[in-house]
Amino acid sequence: MISVAVIGAGMAGRSHAAAYRQANTVFGRGLPPIRLATIADANLPLAEDAAERYGFENAVSSWETVAEDPSIDAVSIVVANSLHRPIAEALVTAGKHVLCEKPLAGSLADARAMVDLERDADVVTAVGYTYRRNPAIAAIREHVLGGDFGDLSLFHGRYWCDYACNPRSPFSWRYQGGMGTGALADIGAHVIDLGEYICGPIESVSGGALSVQVAKRPLPLGAVVGHDAAPVSDELGEVENEDTAAFSARFRSGLAASFSVSRTAFGLPNGLGFDVYGLSGRASFDLHRPAEYLLDDGQPRAGTGGARQVIAGPQLPYFRGGYPMQAPGVGGGNAEMFIYQARAFLDQIAGTADPVPPNATFVDALHTMEVIQAVVESAGAGGAPVRVG
Ligand SMILES: NC(=O)c1ccc[n+]([C@@H]2O[C@H](COP(=O)([O-])OP(=O)(O)OC[C@H]3O[C@@H](n4cnc5c(N)ncnc54)[C@H](O)[C@@H]3O)[C@@H](O)[C@H]2O)c1
Repeated sequence: MISVAVIGAGMAGRSHAAAYRQANTVFGRGLPPIRLATIADANLPLAEDAAERYGFENAVSSWETVAEDPSIDAVSIVVANSLHRPIAEALVTAGKHVLCEKPLAGSLADARAMVDLERDADVVTAVGYTYRRNPAIAAIREHVLGGDFGDLSLFHGRYWCDYACNPRSPFSWRYQGGMGTGALADIGAHVIDLGEYICGPIESVSGGALSVQVAKRPLPLGAVVGHDAAPVSDELGEVENEDTAAFSARFRSGLAASFSVSRTAFGLPNGLGFDVYGLSGRASFDLHRPAEYLLDDGQPRAGTGGARQVIAGPQLPYFRGGYPMQAPGVGGGNAEMFIYQARAFLDQIAGTADPVPPNATFVDALHTMEVIQAVVESAGAGGAPVRVG
């Protein structure tokens, strides 16, 4: 039996809670039973609602209660980034396995301390780079690593969202922290990780450019969940971090890349996408069509050009055993990615035979933050090249 808890019952916390409930329904039968123990949120009614919906035994208002509960083995940290470090330290010290949301921490110093924690810990430490679990993205990575596209020539990554377009949407923790802690950390972390997951480590960045489109936002009158609208006051809070960021990158392999991220890209609710090109093939992914990708591998009409649409089915990673209906074209999206991530975490804890690929580590996620820091430094130096790390 593995007893799990989730700290944070907001936008992403509920996805973690739902995922633990499903984790034993996918892939092999080797996992021990999962006990859905506790949901903690400072907003107790939110914790109570999530606990009831997803079948957890307890709802509590403080994360310390989870850290102090000897019956809990494994915990997801799904709260504001600046809280990740103190909570992770308390949990790991108490001997609990930790799945921490991205970005790893609210600052580089905190992220480095968490890597020290990971190095000295005797527990599983993992990071929620959920999109690694998308079957289409995992398939594109297999094409690249398998050499199907030949030598890579270009990567372009974007994460364009519109959640901050409305200047009346409430101020929240997402708008606090210095430059680099805004769109770059919130959504950029995902696409930077995917670039590195597919193409290897980024060595340097240049052309960093950061901008703020909405400088002040109204303070909320009550709780804010995720990007939701909420009643606001006439008082304004100063936005402390970037709405939009762009930069060029060079991977260790020599591959050139460009990235852009924005939380003020009108009309795009969740526009993660990327294109990867090689000398003999290419692929493109768009999260608004999460169960497919475009592939041009020169086959079977070599030389005629034009990509073909690959529709997710049992031929792709994660699909076989990952869906109740084992048939091509039945879709798949955000909820499944969280289930596979939770399953990987639990597999790591249980030492399951034939596990799904392990989650990213704190070390991986520190590297993402070092890329972000290099972008901030490049932006501060008029776009000059900056080495990562
Ligand atoms: N992997 C993904 O796809 C994904 C998606 C969204 C968010 N995230 C990450 O998840 C984390 C949370 O983001 P969110 O959008 O769910 O935030 P959110 O604001 O919707 O929810 C955070 C919750 O934390 C609670 N909270 C605040 N202080 C607390 C405390 N001291 N103890 C217990 N609970 C406390 C709040 O009441 C709130 O309900 C962030 O790190 C974010 O980057 C990841």
